[in-house]
Amino acid sequence: MAQASYSPGLEGVIATTTSISYLDTEHEQIVLRGYDLIELARTKRYTEVAYLTLYGHLPSAAELAGFEGQLREHAELPGEVYRLLDLLPRRMHVMDAQRTVLSFLAGLEDPESLKDTSVEANLRRGVRVLAQMPAVTANAYRALRGLPRVRPDPSLGFSEGFLYMLLGSRPDPDAVRVFDLTLVCYIEHEMPNSTFAARVIASTLSDLYGAVVGAAASLKGPLHGGANEAVAHMLLDILRHGGADAAEAYVVERLRRGERIMGFGHRVYMRRYDPRALLMREFVPQLAARRPEGEELVRIHQTVERVMHREKGLYPNADYPAGLIYYLLGIPIELYTPIFLVSRTAGLVAHVVEQHAHNRLFRPRVLYEGPRGLRP
Ligand code: CMC
Repeated sequence: MAQASYSPGLEGVIATTTSISYLDTEHEQIVLRGYDLIELARTKRYTEVAYLTLYGHLPSAAELAGFEGQLREHAELPGEVYRLLDLLPRRMHVMDAQRTVLSFLAGLEDPESLKDTSVEANLRRGVRVLAQMPAVTANAYRALRGLPRVRPDPSLGFSEGFLYMLLGSRPDPDAVRVFDLTLVCYIEHEMPNSTFAARVIASTLSDLYGAVVGAAASLKGPLHGGANEAVAHMLLDILRHGGADAAEAYVVERLRRGERIMGFGHRVYMRRYDPRALLMREFVPQLAARRPEGEELVRIHQTVERVMHREKGLYPNADYPAGLIYYLLGIPIELYTPIFLVSRTAGLVAHVVEQHAHNRLFRPRVLYEGPRGLRP
């Protein structure tokens, strides 16, 4: 074998070909199936973009109606899942509950049919999983917190129904619009750690559920999706310790101690603004009045961003505005990363489909630094 080059964290390494999405940093664009993701987020709703992600083209009116019908049809969970949710340890993170339920759902499928990795079987399975994820997520949270179940309401659209189950009450149209936009922003993002994890798992011809479970475990980490929850905790911490006037000193002190400020930096964008963060930021001011501490949190949010740019030259990533938006919408913090996973399920399914359709097992090598020649 020719000596391969080593790139820690696989930085800059091209891991696969894909026709799903691409971060075109040169043109400051996130390309999704040929479209600019930001333009899609401004003009299309989540279900339309999910269809595009999964099937490669924007849906006609009939295709969209069919797709949304399928999402409605499969939104309710099998009774066994509710029984499983009641058994979960109360201290469990909602993301761990999501992946536990996903494994359980795999167990409800016929083991033989689960081996079918054809495009059709994966898409069928993937659409069902996407449909179930809102009820899985909301009810996992509710079971862990001892709250009564909430059932999917078939009269509501995907995002409205999801937000309804998260909040436990009917959301207003403005809230639904912003929430839907954040879901579009989160839907697909080329090759982050979680998508890579899913593709690595799928490359053994393991099933779609396993790949999404692996991705969920990856996404939970604070260096990845977990950052949106960390952002909300940080903003509230600053609020409790002096508010916007104390935000600058808070950030400077954290940086002096060598700590990371969550929601900033990105392996691909690094010294550029994440286009998703720029878009979501626009919607923050109009939400501020929804909570008594909203205006002050927005000021803290702006100050932290300014100080991070001055001190480190770093810009926010998508998790920075998303963490604040979800808080202002009244969503409990422990649901932020689980929401990210629900949206990203569409992207993950598309990647599993693509991986299985053009499979090559992932199996890299190492640069061995341990001893040799020892005798037992
Ligand atoms: N706070 C403080 N310093 C930072 C941060 C940050 N958030 N991000 C990067 N840096 C510094 C880092 O200390 C290093 O400085 P120096 O060169 O002086 O040692 C430099 O920037 C380069 O950082 P790196 O760790 O080599 O870069 P990376 O590509 O490994 O890290 C990252 C990317 C996302 C892990 C990192 O920026 C980070 O930890 N950010 C905070 C967590 C976060 O917001 N994650 C969400 C990622 S995007 C959305 C998603 O996928 O969920």
